[in-house]
Amino acid sequence: MKILVAGATGMTGRHVVNQLLQNGHQVRAIVRTPDKLDSEILSHRNLTVIKAAILDLTDEELQAHVMDCDAIVSCLGHVLSFKGMFGAPRNLCAEATRRLCNAIQIRPQSPPTKFILMNTVGVKNPHLNEPRTIVERLVLSLLHYTIPPQRDNELAAAYLIDEIGSINPQIEWSIVRPDSLINADISQYETAQSPSTGLFSGRPTARANVARFMVSLIEDEPVWHQWKFKMPVIMNAAA
Ligand SMILES: NC(=O)c1ccc[n+]([C@@H]2O[C@H](COP(=O)([O-])OP(=O)(O)OC[C@H]3O[C@@H](n4cnc5c(N)ncnc54)[C@H](OP(=O)(O)O)[C@@H]3O)[C@@H](O)[C@H]2O)c1
Repeated sequence: MKILVAGATGMTGRHVVNQLLQNGHQVRAIVRTPDKLDSEILSHRNLTVIKAAILDLTDEELQAHVMDCDAIVSCLGHVLSFKGMFGAPRNLCAEATRRLCNAIQIRPQSPPTKFILMNTVGVKNPHLNEPRTIVERLVLSLLHYTIPPQRDNELAAAYLIDEIGSINPQIEWSIVRPDSLINADISQYETAQSPSTGLFSGRPTARANVARFMVSLIEDEPVWHQWKFKMPVIMNAAA
């Protein structure tokens, strides 16, 4: 398959690119700094690198890049610095999601493209009555008003849920919600409709597992069927 990865130089995006290439797919990566990718990845014959900040691309350029893609994965996230969190572009994830989806929808009729958005367990599924304690609600509303990336993640998810919806002929989506991310090898993981252990349970999610789950959404139709138009929560399996 042909898959476009946004945020490919990120700590999760790199795993996604690596695993997709290992599985024989053709990968198109939009990255600001290609040198952040390992040299053997960078020189892989199935990888095409587009050197750009995604929001700097014109609509026409984005359309050309998504033209023949079977799936798009967004692992974008704000750099954890004052400028990355509070500077422009404040709506990086939401704006990239919106523009990539627009680009898909301008293409001639083709089978639906899978759009997989990396999000966070801190964003609620509006269609489920996800229980939150008073403390969790307080912390999340504090984050909503003070930390722009939280609001960005909320807007990106809301765009897919409300604007793209579940009867769009050109786009099917899944919003993957990891718990606190860690760097660790692939291991057993669990997926669920909603956080089952509370938001601040301390159950981590290996970035490599997030990538593996995203790749399985692309490759494995029963997995896609289970999670399309949903917001799966992913956590490492309990020890
Ligand atoms: N940290 C956690 O515990 C946690 C938990 C759950 C969910 N999440 C969510 O998971 C997502 C990804 O996490 P991660 O740790 O893999 O992220 P990461 O390592 O920080 O990667 C972020 C990616 O976004 C790109 N990016 C940042 N600012 C950009 C800009 N202005 N224009 C274009 N590209 C830009 C980065 O490119 P460069 O390499 O060029 O900077 C990088 O490829 C985030 O949305 C985050 O909110 C995080």
